[in-house]
Amino acid sequence: MLKGDRVGLRARHEEDIPVLRAELYNDVVNASRAEGGPWRPVKPGAQDPRLVVDDSNHAVVPFSVVELAGDTLIGTATLWGIDTHNRCAHVGLGLLPSARGKGYGSDVVAVLCHYGFAVRGLQRLQIETLADNHAMLRAAERNGFVREGVLRSSAWVLGEFMDEVLLGLLAREWKPRPSAT
Ligand SMILES: CC(C)(COP(=O)(O)OP(=O)(O)OC[C@H]1O[C@@H](n2cnc3c(N)ncnc32)[C@H](O)[C@@H]1OP(=O)(O)O)[C@@H](O)C(=O)NCCC(=O)NCCS
Repeated sequence: MLKGDRVGLRARHEEDIPVLRAELYNDVVNASRAEGGPWRPVKPGAQDPRLVVDDSNHAVVPFSVVELAGDTLIGTATLWGIDTHNRCAHVGLGLLPSARGKGYGSDVVAVLCHYGFAVRGLQRLQIETLADNHAMLRAAERNGFVREGVLRSSAWVLGEFMDEVLLGLLAREWKPRPSAT
């Protein structure tokens, strides 16, 4: 398991799946805002790649996020679009509603940076988020990500086009937190 101050990133367990399906992926507003595609209901037992891990896909590493105190599931974290030629990848995360706004998001980003830069030897990590996702923007910037641009009207979200912000962090700029291992 990878550890931050208060969160752990571990493999997906079978018992995580119904919780993530109900609280993240079957939540129309959350999924429409976070997924970058049309919402569709996920049925029990579905082999949805966001839930069921495909170990043969080396471009994506999905983690379940737990609270270290108590080992409770609090969300997902993903390094995706891993490009081993250009040594870059994208960072994604989604916390269960009850876990938001408590500082876990910043901690998860710090651990994903440790995984991307220290464990995988990447040189660039990237985040795309809706321009009004202030918690995500702040969690990224607290970890050193810089805003590199605005993708104007790039996301169709529940009836309107919204801007997305592109943020990047390079290995040489990264300041590891001592707690992220
Ligand atoms: C986005 C998300 C991962 C952020 O994690 P979080 O644990 O809720 O955020 P944190 O508590 O770590 O807060 C990060 C920072 O944003 C600030 N913040 C939180 N909510 C905010 C809001 N609504 N407006 C402005 N700032 C906010 C916090 O004060 C904190 O700033 P600080 O470090 O200076 O105190 C989480 O809210 C989430 O999973 N949301 C739904 C899914 C999603 O949007 N995923 C990202 C898709 S790209």
